[in-house]
Amino acid sequence: MKHTSQTIYSKKQAGERIVSLSLYDFPSARIADEAGVDVVMVGDSVGMALFGHENTLGMTMEHMLYHTQAVAKAVKHALVVADMPIHSYNDPEIALKNAQRFLKEVGADAVKLEGGATIQPQIEKLMTAGISVMGHLGMLPQSIGDGKYRVYGKDPDEAARILEDAKQLDRMGTFAIVLECVPAKLAEEITKAVRCPTIGIGAGPATDGQVLVFQDLLGIRSGVNPRFVRRYANLEKIMKKAAGDGFHDVKNKKFPAKKESFS
Ligand code: KIV
Repeated sequence: MKHTSQTIYSKKQAGERIVSLSLYDFPSARIADEAGVDVVMVGDSVGMALFGHENTLGMTMEHMLYHTQAVAKAVKHALVVADMPIHSYNDPEIALKNAQRFLKEVGADAVKLEGGATIQPQIEKLMTAGISVMGHLGMLPQSIGDGKYRVYGKDPDEAARILEDAKQLDRMGTFAIVLECVPAKLAEEITKAVRCPTIGIGAGPATDGQVLVFQDLLGIRSGVNPRFVRRYANLEKIMKKAAGDGFHDVKNKKFPAKKESFS
């Protein structure tokens, strides 16, 4: 069965946790889909994970379309959510034009936008056009500029604003909300206050689901060590060993063998 925004939304009522990964390429998407992921986000974190940038600010529509196309082609079951990059939803008309490109040109099922009340007109425009929207609150990587990533909502005023934004997104009809880097207690309060599922990253255990960058889960992003990441493998070590073994065989004329050659 292929997930829709409605089947993801319904999981909260059914008491089922949502599993999600942020990933950017065909083989990763195929593997995650076969492993049973519910939601695949093509996150603009691709700028950091694959391009080596310090933040997500350099990502453009062209980058995100390119990666979303590769992911959507591989996925048979999960919902594919394209992350709208910075400046791609500066106003409602631009937001609609770009969101439609993700759905019509490269096969995304939904889009994700960072922000709450400040982007209400954009979200309403997309909803009116029948486009499924995922919200994103807490730390908003597109808005921090060159500032440091930090936990949002420790301060009571900031926490109240995030809670209000979540309620507003929920009223507008977002099918899920990502909560990034917020205190666990605030995430729990928001999760209880909204009807749509919350999907946490650095937001503690009480959200309705969790998302991780696939590279982080697999252990192929050395140097990145946020507290909320749990590595389930050390693929970096495995990849280095495989590369080293291959190089050794070439240098010692053990690869290719006869059976790997054509006559
Ligand atoms: O860019 C991204 O990968 C994201 C997810 C981590 C939510 O926004």
